[in-house]
Amino acid sequence: MTDMDFQALEKEAREAIQQAHKADDLEALKVKYLGKKGSITALLKQVSQVPPPERPVFGQKVNQLKHLVQSLITEQQTKLAGDPDHDPGFDPTLDGIKPAVGSLHPITRTIREICVIFSRLGFDTVDGREIETEFYNFTALNIPLDHPSRDAFDTFYTPQGYLLRSQTSTVQVREMKRRKPPLRILAPGRVYRPDAVDASHSFMFHQIEGLMVDQKTNFADLKGVIHLFLKQLFGEKLKMRFRPHFFPFTEPSVEVDIKWGERWLEVLGAGQVNPMVFKYAGYPPRRYQGFAFGLGIERIVMLRYGIKDIRLLFENDQRFLEQFR
Ligand code: PHE
Repeated sequence: MTDMDFQALEKEAREAIQQAHKADDLEALKVKYLGKKGSITALLKQVSQVPPPERPVFGQKVNQLKHLVQSLITEQQTKLAGDPDHDPGFDPTLDGIKPAVGSLHPITRTIREICVIFSRLGFDTVDGREIETEFYNFTALNIPLDHPSRDAFDTFYTPQGYLLRSQTSTVQVREMKRRKPPLRILAPGRVYRPDAVDASHSFMFHQIEGLMVDQKTNFADLKGVIHLFLKQLFGEKLKMRFRPHFFPFTEPSVEVDIKWGERWLEVLGAGQVNPMVFKYAGYPPRRYQGFAFGLGIERIVMLRYGIKDIRLLFENDQRFLEQFR
């Protein structure tokens, strides 16, 4: 192998590589020169047979050639990849792939909207527990031992004697034990009831509890706050009515209906906190006054968006959820 031979091989390789315009052709050249049976590989194998005095120079030349051909091939590969005419697999004029953008579930969105309305009235949002004791779910709310809602048909009990809360009213005494009035809290969250699932029932749904307690927080305050809230949520023109009702933990109690088309629809329960509840919270008798209310979220979401079946809200079907962007 003379110097001339080296130069000829280098020239040949260089030209071949520069003329290769497809990735496959380049790959073939790589095999031709550098593959197992490639010509440069063959030269490398000869190094040990060259007489010792010439060996270092010969070895160096073969190595230089090998590295040169390697870098020429890489260079040409890079050139082809960046050249749209030569790689039909890549079209830089096409649009990129748009990453899917998520959005808030309509229940989450409605909860947040309601929390914002009440935050402007000074209400803090607090968290409750989904696994509760009979005390906070019933006893502290003045619900008698023989009340039907305590039955296993109406509440999920755990074998350890806990239960899945059936209403967010559990946060009332929990929070009142934690802090002293003045108190303005809002507590959204899940509640559970063993109802058969159909278009309007689910074994799990969401409620928001509100509680305001101070030295003088009377029924007029209750009406004013609820009035303001419902109008902000459903619009200034909304018509509503307060209907007498009964809850063991409020006295007097009301249910509030809103006018929806021709019909009146119940949207929330409310009332003045029963002194028995203050007693369970450990507050001194006759010191405080306040009101509480509770509303179901699914009901409101379904009304606002015209959703006819509650199950749609829990199936996580993207085709349904995508509408709420
Ligand atoms: N917890 C009641 C329910 O689930 C609603 C309510 C809350 C009523 C607070 C009065 C006061 O129906």
